[in-house]
Amino acid sequence: MIKRIIYGQPIETLAVVEDVQSSQQEEFFCSNEKDDGIEFIYNLSKNDYVYGLGETMGGVNKRGRRFVSFNSDNNNHTNDTESLYGSHNFLVIDGKEHFGVFFDTPSKVIFEIDLNNSGIIRVFCENKNLTMYEITGTSAYDITKQFLKIIGKSFAPPIWAFGLGQSKWGYTCEEDFKNVIENYQKNNLPLDYICMDIDYMDRYIDFTIDKTRFPNMKEFISYAKQKGVHLVPIIDAGIKIEPGNSVYEEGVKNNYFCKDKNGDNFKALVWPGLTHFTDFFQPKARKWFGSQYKFLTDLGFEGFWNDMNEPSIFAVEFDKDNKNNKTERDLKALEEKQKVEDYKMFYHNINGKMINHYDVHNIYGHLMTVAAGEELGKLIKNRYLLFTRSTYIGSHRYGGLWTGDNFSQWDHLKQNVLQMPSLNMCGFLYSGADTGGFGKNCSRELLLRWLAFSTFTPLMRIHSDRKSTPQECYSFGATDDFKCILSLRYKLLPYIYSEYMKALLTSDMYIKPLAFEFSDDEKARSIEDQLLVGDSIMIAPFIEEGKISRKVYLPENMTKVKYDGKDFECEYLNQGEYEIESNLNDVVFFIRDKKLIPISNGDQSTKEIDLSQVILLGNGEKYEQYVDDGQTKDVSLENVRTIYKEN
Ligand code: GLC
Repeated sequence: MIKRIIYGQPIETLAVVEDVQSSQQEEFFCSNEKDDGIEFIYNLSKNDYVYGLGETMGGVNKRGRRFVSFNSDNNNHTNDTESLYGSHNFLVIDGKEHFGVFFDTPSKVIFEIDLNNSGIIRVFCENKNLTMYEITGTSAYDITKQFLKIIGKSFAPPIWAFGLGQSKWGYTCEEDFKNVIENYQKNNLPLDYICMDIDYMDRYIDFTIDKTRFPNMKEFISYAKQKGVHLVPIIDAGIKIEPGNSVYEEGVKNNYFCKDKNGDNFKALVWPGLTHFTDFFQPKARKWFGSQYKFLTDLGFEGFWNDMNEPSIFAVEFDKDNKNNKTERDLKALEEKQKVEDYKMFYHNINGKMINHYDVHNIYGHLMTVAAGEELGKLIKNRYLLFTRSTYIGSHRYGGLWTGDNFSQWDHLKQNVLQMPSLNMCGFLYSGADTGGFGKNCSRELLLRWLAFSTFTPLMRIHSDRKSTPQECYSFGATDDFKCILSLRYKLLPYIYSEYMKALLTSDMYIKPLAFEFSDDEKARSIEDQLLVGDSIMIAPFIEEGKISRKVYLPENMTKVKYDGKDFECEYLNQGEYEIESNLNDVVFFIRDKKLIPISNGDQSTKEIDLSQVILLGNGEKYEQYVDDGQTKDVSLENVRTIYKEN
């Protein structure tokens, strides 16, 4: 059961798509209006768990911390960071009472969840105009599924987007990309796509190609496609100020850009230099920006990533002392980016009213994703791939997300593991981190362990910074070890794809905490470093340096599976605690009791794999498999077939 309570006159966020019954009164939280916002208080019980909040640092259970929803390009995040790239204001309280709550507001929200053992949840919304949704149900899982239903179905990526993606900020010309393809193929390693970072553009200008480095992009895209590799270009939020650039000129002519306090187009310094930001709050501007992707789709691109859309600002041009002596803040300001003052300097035209950006900050990136997704849906006949950095609840209907600039550090691998269930609770089924870490240098061991975890996340992309040492699977010697891990991803493809599509079609999660299935098992409830992947698999990733064994708790009898690149070694284990071993070149996972998983016969590319030719592993009797051609937009439960285990 879901109720909606409206405070003041909220701005449309495009988060919820289903009608919800309205109510006058909150049932669980008490609200107190303050001068500078509204505060909501809930008294926790000692054993309550608190789940949700999507992309945040910390554990799956949110107790004991403060989180701030204020989208930030925080490329240096540490365990205590309060704000990341997205804002996902959905919480589930599970204990004495079971309920979910979604604070739907584009403004800053502060969550203090049992901070300093206070015993309360305090939510402070800076904007007094908001919609609150309260959801009651039988369990945390049931409540989450109701929430997923009202925010609409996830987008469906093409099957090749479930293969391995390789990326690096630092591949700058055709030769670099050709090398990556050749090296993957020479080493017999699968690869489905390579991302093109900002260097493919002419001086980092959106919707352009650097002609000296990519003389014939159309031909190059088909060359890569023939080799089984899709190219996925980046698009940033800012449009470079440059007379002669038609996108810039059209935007200016039609007033599609954000304004400063004087009504001039707001200027901010990002990768290409001074840019204007598209005012995605105007439906016309959204449509216009989205239609610019035609430049890329005409060339043959079918996948895209959107970046810098918090929006990230390195510096702003400002009018010092109001004396018209405009200066650009120097690049030292890079370190102080995302300053609140910068966000207070520009405005959106929302239904004819000029609204300060700061007040609606958290849905800017979301609306860019809506803009891209809506038009890409028209421009491309089949499914497209889109993932983005800055999101809000609802962005998942148009694209997936990656979790931004992490580091090649073990604690960031752990963070990736902990974030996945919360992201799934907020609709982001197609998500993943920069595998191996973006900043700093990745060790061989870390990349192998990270790949072993990313094997189970729908988005599996290695990405690294231009300053990092090479991070491709062939850059660390003894590539057979990498082959073993990647082989499992492709062997599991029929399962991963099927579970993803079923979750999408039934408003379910793809990755869950153990607590969501084993809610009466106190031990299972407290374990955060083991996850359920789809309906049949449990994983216990290796996230510590130098470890080849770890403790695993089986909340029920399960089949332990060890895959070494060739064979699946299965062992049926009773419920209980075990010490499990795994070397760098194998992966151990578990199949739940009375369940099955379909395994493909191929492991080289998504193109080669026939989803309907599978063998079944596990001790179940039948498996409901979603099968289609991997590209048609018409996804439906009619594509689910029942397959039976032959004895
Ligand atoms: C941002 C992105 C990163 C990208 C870089 C250059 O830092 O998060 O993924 O490589 O910009 O475009």
